[in-house]
Amino acid sequence: MEYKRRSESSVTRLLTGLIVLFIRASEGDINYSVPEETNVGYVIGNIAKDLGINAKILSTRKARLDVDDDGKVYCDVSLSSGDLVVAERIDREQICGPKTVCPLKYEMILENPLELHVIVVHIQDINDNSPTFASDVIKFEIRESANKGARFTISGAHDEDVGLNGVQSYSLQNNEHFTFDVHARPGGGKYGELVLSKELDREQQQKMSLILTATDGGRPQRSGTTVIEVTILDANDNAPVFTQQIYKVNVPENADLGTVLATVTATDADEGANGQLTYEFGHTSEELNKLFKLNKNSGDIILVGQMDFEKESLYELSIQAKDGSASTANVIIDITDVNDNAPKMIITSLNNHIPENAIVGTEAAIINVQDKDSGDNRQISCSIQQNVPFKINPSIKNYFSLATTNPLDRETEAYYNITITATDGGSPPLSSSKTIHLMVSDVNDNPPVFGEQSYNAYVMENNKPGTSICSVSARDPDWRQNGTVLYSLVSSEVNGVPVSSFISINADTGVIHAVRSFDYEQFRKFKVQVVARDNGSPPLSSNVTMSVFITDENDNSPQILYPAPEGRSLMTEMVPKAALSGSLISKVIAVDADSGQNAWLSYQIVKSTDLGLFTIGLHNGEIRAVRDITASDSMKQNLVISVKDNGQPPLSSTCSVYLLISDNLAEVPELKDMTYEESNSKLTSYLIIALVSVSTFFLTFIILILAVRFCHRRKPRLLFDGAVAIPSAYLPPNYAEVEGAGTLCSSYNYDTYLTTGSRSSDFKFVTSYNENTLPSTHTLNRIQNQIDPFEENSFTVASSDSEHDSLTTHVSNFEGCF
Ligand SMILES: *[C@@H]1O[C@H](CO)[C@@H](O)[C@H](O)[C@H]1NC(C)=O
Ligand SMILES: *[C@@H]1O[C@H](CO)[C@@H](O)[C@H](O)[C@H]1NC(C)=O
Ligand SMILES: *[C@@H]1O[C@H](CO)[C@@H](O)[C@H](O)[C@H]1NC(C)=O
Ligand SMILES: *[C@@H]1O[C@H](CO)[C@@H](O)[C@H](O)[C@H]1NC(C)=O
Repeated sequence: MEYKRRSESSVTRLLTGLIVLFIRASEGDINYSVPEETNVGYVIGNIAKDLGINAKILSTRKARLDVDDDGKVYCDVSLSSGDLVVAERIDREQICGPKTVCPLKYEMILENPLELHVIVVHIQDINDNSPTFASDVIKFEIRESANKGARFTISGAHDEDVGLNGVQSYSLQNNEHFTFDVHARPGGGKYGELVLSKELDREQQQKMSLILTATDGGRPQRSGTTVIEVTILDANDNAPVFTQQIYKVNVPENADLGTVLATVTATDADEGANGQLTYEFGHTSEELNKLFKLNKNSGDIILVGQMDFEKESLYELSIQAKDGSASTANVIIDITDVNDNAPKMIITSLNNHIPENAIVGTEAAIINVQDKDSGDNRQISCSIQQNVPFKINPSIKNYFSLATTNPLDRETEAYYNITITATDGGSPPLSSSKTIHLMVSDVNDNPPVFGEQSYNAYVMENNKPGTSICSVSARDPDWRQNGTVLYSLVSSEVNGVPVSSFISINADTGVIHAVRSFDYEQFRKFKVQVVARDNGSPPLSSNVTMSVFITDENDNSPQILYPAPEGRSLMTEMVPKAALSGSLISKVIAVDADSGQNAWLSYQIVKSTDLGLFTIGLHNGEIRAVRDITASDSMKQNLVISVKDNGQPPLSSTCSVYLLISDNLAEVPELKDMTYEESNSKLTSYLIIALVSVSTFFLTFIILILAVRFCHRRKPRLLFDGAVAIPSAYLPPNYAEVEGAGTLCSSYNYDTYLTTGSRSSDFKFVTSYNENTLPSTHTLNRIQNQIDPFEENSFTVASSDSEHDSLTTHVSNFEGCF
């Protein structure tokens, strides 16, 4: 929320900045004026006040003055007060020469948002220069025959100041022969003429010295003087006459050195020495002397220096033809512009870190272009290369702005090198170019993305705590912390235990470790959400589901449910004497808490009293007679049975089955004997038989009667008909209890006798009810289906309803086969 508001406000600021830029700039300039030669620090005006800007923000917005040309700055803006002050000596004559208007143009740039104000400081002339003459002494030779009214041109005085501060008037020392006339020149400026007002007489006076004073109109007034020395010569008839009073030539500024620009010609009617003319410049400045040379004899004006239209577009030369007397003509050299200046580009403002979410139209730079040429030669157009999301737009005057045209994306393009080419309108056009480097700065706009839609991890049960089981990885293309991915687990519970107590994740690498050892028999699968979050502010995140599958290991040995393991109770099975070959004698029931192959049990007789008499079904544990039982067979038969699973390595358990071949309960010997070692029991049994046979004689009668009665009385209690009950004490803790789950066919009822009469609850086992023991190949398929690890709730073992159902099914199956 906070973040959003911030970005909105910066956008509005940017927009208002743009609007202000255009409005302000078109409003017009701010004009100031300052007299030349003021002290450094003189306050010209307060820019902040005049622009309506708070002076305090000037420094934060990096206010600065840019000059139009790359000349001197002269003025500076004080960032603390907003005053525009004089920064160095301003000499108007040096800056503008003879121009009457002398503006200093500044562009004040404010950044963030970009803003531009054009400020013009007009330099006012002060009368700091006196009129000066080209030389201290001007010499003339005038024939005594010169008529009254003859005129002799005198180069005027020159005053560097302009306007009123320039030369305003001349005064000639009082004398009886000459007056002084002032004339305006056609190209501007003034010149004087000495006018003869009274004829001269060489014989009376050979030389004359007159002081000529030029005064300007400044306050205070300044003046300069020269001495005109007139030498009076003997009569001569004709003064030279120029063919034209004014010569005008147009010359391109790039004219070659040595070019003859013009030829002035004057004629003199006199002959001989009096007709010999020489030409020379009148008053010339040093600059003109460097540019032009006059051939004394031919009157050719030759270009000797490089002209520059941009400095001066017109020169005026005054040329005198002399043969004794002199006359003057003017040559006006009009320079035409040539496209000799390439546009100059100044990046006045550059915002070279553009956030990638900047709105379309955001300005990246403001470019100022200048061309010193004139006319079409200074018509500049700007362009940039194609295929960049930027555009260059003409802005105010000679300013161009570079703005975005499409949304930026740092992740596809982080840098732009934009080459701006400015071309002028000359023929041939000149151009210049500049490259700016723009960087797109990052915004946290990409959430981390996981490499996979979901992750599965398989871990063997009984793993070591701390083993790594899987690793996840997510990529975030953003920059630095915006692209730094941190992993974590979403807290959730597995069977009521926080998931963090099962696995942990390395926040940096995404490697997932098991925190504890897993037990397949407890649960087989759980799911956890992994979150990848970047470090941006606000952070972005994404999540993925990770399923952890625990795979079975053969860590449980088969557990024999029936007969009960040794030591718990001893049970003896009665085998009818008439049992035939193939008849079912008993059944060993065993389960294995593992699954699959690890729970596939096989049964084997490892030891038996009579090796050939009984066999056990390899997979169903059914003990059957191999042949018919005969009277010669020993009455007591012990079998040691090993139950082995199919794991790698296999685990096994053994149990003993005691069989008593008898139809008569009375024949049941003391069960204690059955446990004796076989060698022992043989001797003992002989003793018992001997004892019994002796007693028989004495007690036959009584025993018979008692036995018959006893049997009749106990029968309903002992030989109950088929109800099956497995006491829960015989079940392994995590196996379900079966109650009344079926009946046996009455033809096969096995009575079980317990050694200790006190715990004489009689019971039978009907079948293996654990689905994982494989009672027959018929159920194998079914089991394989059920150990599908992808099944939901697979960690709840053996207590579900479906489990219960399958038990019942098993029971009924057995019912059928009995
Ligand atoms: C500043 O002077 C220029 C001409 O020199 C004029 O066009 C402009 O309107 C003036 N601006 C202001 C604000 O006075
Ligand atoms: C931009 O220019 C710089 C320096 O001239 C160069 O190192 C860089 O590779 C260029 N980048 C692109 C995108 O052209
Ligand atoms: C990350 O993004 C934020 C905006 O979401 C941005 O302000 C910050 O400068 C970026 N960090 C880096 C290192 O680019
Ligand atoms: C996981 O991502 C989904 C969308 O991909 C989102 O709806 C859910 O809130 C995220 N869960 C967490 C805990 O971040």
